[in-house]
Amino acid sequence: MLNHHKKIEKNSIWLLILTVVVISIGGLIEIVPLFRIETTIEKVQGMRPYTPLELAGQEIYIRENCSSCHSQQIRPLRDEVERYGHYSLAAESMYDYPFLWGSKRTGPDLARVGGKYSDEWHVAHLNNPRDVVPESIMPAYAFMANKGADLVNIGKHMQALKAIGVPYTDEMVENASNDAMVQAHPESDASSLLKRYGNKVNQHDFDGQPQFVSEMDALIAYLQALGTFVYFKDYQPKE
Ligand code: HEC
Repeated sequence: MLNHHKKIEKNSIWLLILTVVVISIGGLIEIVPLFRIETTIEKVQGMRPYTPLELAGQEIYIRENCSSCHSQQIRPLRDEVERYGHYSLAAESMYDYPFLWGSKRTGPDLARVGGKYSDEWHVAHLNNPRDVVPESIMPAYAFMANKGADLVNIGKHMQALKAIGVPYTDEMVENASNDAMVQAHPESDASSLLKRYGNKVNQHDFDGQPQFVSEMDALIAYLQALGTFVYFKDYQPKE
């Protein structure tokens, strides 16, 4: 056996070929399972795709590059879990295209910011962060309150996400603009919105301006949804 090995070690071509073969085996074992990505993401109760209004908010979050200062991933380390809540699960970002994990925390992690503050707090904070957190270095985003959210193209965006596997139905796509309007107008009938997206959907006038649906409405709808989907009471990690 050792003699054979000596032969290989003395022949650079064979050594190269066999090294590549051995490394490939290890590589394939790690890479091949990822081709079936659905087997690598644990199924959890409660995950749903974003509502049209939340999706419009996510678009704004991406456009403004909030990820350059905020991560959306709580690591399974004690200090993070104590500060931000349950560590992030793969399933929680399975409908994010692109994923917004981020890698820099100039500001705090936002993976579970949903429900942490009132809508009014978010309005004040986005208008001028210094009004609620005097030492804040976050930029102000007051202009969003005066800009209408793009609810015309949201159906097309959902159609594209559907094509790559996000479980939007044709009915959800057809009703996208209307569902977004309904979510931002608490006086309108939300029954079909809730039927489509589940009864945990927030229906509010997020920015306090009932006359139109602003970018601020959409962004706050998105922030208030972050990290609230999974029912952690029923969650049992797989060993
Ligand atoms: C220059 C870096 C920077 C950018 C860009 C930025 N933030 Fe922040 N953000 C911060 C800092 C610092 C804080 C902590 C102080 C504070 O609450 O204002 C913060 C706090 C927050 C909080 C409160 C989080 C908590 O748990 O208390 C929210 C929500 C938030 N930011 C949302 C956003 C959104 C949405 C955007 C994009 C539109 C954004 N931020 C862009 C730096 C930033």
